[in-house]
Amino acid sequence: MQVKYLWFFVPMLLAAQEEFMSHYEYGQMLYKNPRGVSCAKCHGKKGEGRVIVTYRDKKGTQSITGPDIRNENLQTMLAAVSKSHHIMPSYYLTDEEVEAIQDYLHQQNNPE
Ligand code: HEC
Repeated sequence: MQVKYLWFFVPMLLAAQEEFMSHYEYGQMLYKNPRGVSCAKCHGKKGEGRVIVTYRDKKGTQSITGPDIRNENLQTMLAAVSKSHHIMPSYYLTDEEVEAIQDYLHQQNNPE
């Protein structure tokens, strides 16, 4: 096969692959494995938030928590994922990937 035909087939193969998974499963997969530390590690299984670590200092027991992100809107999600924070890592996810994560969290937490 001539190399130039590859340009035609590669996008088709990629498109076919995506159809194996529903949008929901895609979001679930990305939430658990977003090419970096899993969101679930700090935001809980369903985005409900969780304590990441506790420590003691002069004021007593302190904790660092990942906030509840179950009802975060898309704008906040997009901004939070790519910017740099103190604790949360920044990710290289496309807008579509972040949207899939957000849809997953919404569907998971607001079943019809
Ligand atoms: C290492 C722990 C950690 C991981 C992993 C992590 N986060 Fe966070 N996230 C946090 C913390 C802590 C905050 C609060 C802001 C801060 O201090 O960094 C936060 C803030 C957010 C916010 C903003 C919430 C608000 O109301 O301002 C969103 C949205 C968010 N994270 C989504 C995600 C998504 C989606 C992923 C996976 C792609 C992810 N986070 C991975 C710890 C984490």
